[in-house]
Amino acid sequence: MESFEYRGGVLHCEEVALPVLAAEFGTPTYVYSRRALIERYDALAEAFAPLNPKLCFAVKSCHNTHILRLLGEHGAAFDVVSGGEVFRAITAGADPGDIVFAGVGKTDSEIAAAIEAGVGCFNVESEAELAVLAGLAEQGGKVVQVALRVNPDVDAHTHPYTTTGKQENKFGIDLDCARELFKHYSGHSWVRVSGVHMHLGSPVNTVDPYVQAIGKLLGMIDELRAAGVGIDLFNLGGGWGAGDGETPSANPAEYARSIVPLFKGRDLRIHLEPGRSIAANSAVLLERTIYIKEGCVRRFVIGDAAMTDLIRPALYQAYHFLWPVEPGDGFVPPHHRSDLKLPGCVEVDVVGPVCESGDFLAKGRWLPPVKRGDLLAVFSAGAYGAVMSSQYNSRPRAAEVLVDGDTLRLIRRRETYDDLIAAEEGL
Ligand code: LLP
Repeated sequence: MESFEYRGGVLHCEEVALPVLAAEFGTPTYVYSRRALIERYDALAEAFAPLNPKLCFAVKSCHNTHILRLLGEHGAAFDVVSGGEVFRAITAGADPGDIVFAGVGKTDSEIAAAIEAGVGCFNVESEAELAVLAGLAEQGGKVVQVALRVNPDVDAHTHPYTTTGKQENKFGIDLDCARELFKHYSGHSWVRVSGVHMHLGSPVNTVDPYVQAIGKLLGMIDELRAAGVGIDLFNLGGGWGAGDGETPSANPAEYARSIVPLFKGRDLRIHLEPGRSIAANSAVLLERTIYIKEGCVRRFVIGDAAMTDLIRPALYQAYHFLWPVEPGDGFVPPHHRSDLKLPGCVEVDVVGPVCESGDFLAKGRWLPPVKRGDLLAVFSAGAYGAVMSSQYNSRPRAAEVLVDGDTLRLIRRRETYDDLIAAEEGL
């Protein structure tokens, strides 16, 4: 059963009708489905089970500690990219040994704190960082596990802002330099440099870029092993598509069908870092229409959610399927793809209250007639949604609610005006 579906003409999250939720918590509100999160985690885990991977949920995609706790209790490890994310994962109950720490600019204090906490693996992104890490490990008196993030120079065919595995990107270490570092640090007393890490971008909707990059890195591993350098860990990163209506994407089974055989007999521990594929379709952003405005050349639906709540359309021109919660007879959407145009729909731009023309959630969309007060749902909002929200225009951040069957849990209260100025000292 789908976790978000129209029943009796009303959009439900699991057993809860969204108008009930809006009445209780107001709008805009992120609504997560527990069932969807778990189902998507399980689909990946099952597809890649032959590799017995450590599934490290990418905290950056959806960092609410309640959701981290839920996934952690279900078996997830965590991929983090800052001291703050280490803090969140540990607060959510993670075993520090189940945390992998990536990022091009880890500061000395972030590294020292992570060593102290016992973080399981550092995904190192430069020669300079490795030298700092080695020094801090010695100072801390702890041997640390390292995977070198290798930049395979493979095009992931995704948005330029979220492509990370090409030569011109700031991420990772090129193959030649990585080879040298592996050799140089082989047998080091404080850093155990025995892992290879890659992350190509997000989303990577087809399997080919993974296959290409894995091929390059396995070739490097063979050479290193022949030279006596022990490599026992391969982290494939994240980027797995979510099939969120924007672009078709491979599903977990399709990725696994091509990738799993590449590791047969390789004797490597495998890490995966999925974020979007677990979280994106596990939430909608629920908003209420404030005004309908007939512009000179366009009709605007002005809602109470803005780019401050969901910046992806403004930042990446990302497509999010958006539809009324109670669309009326004949308007229940048969699918969520961008070509949906039902008879009787009208073309609108769905925008927010922020003072920027870039503040839109949907442009040129054919929606059923919408009036003031109607609720709208923005789909596929669970990944890189709430986490990228801001207080621009002094807008308190949205509430977040987790639905489990017919129960509702407020997992982040709506911010207040006092929250807006809470860090401003000396008032
Ligand atoms: N591992 C590393 C090292 C990453 O940098 C990322 C995402 C992931 C894993 C998780 O990727 P995922 O499975 O979620 O695709 N804000 C952008 C996405 C930025 C992704 C950054 N890195 C968006 O809204 O599309």
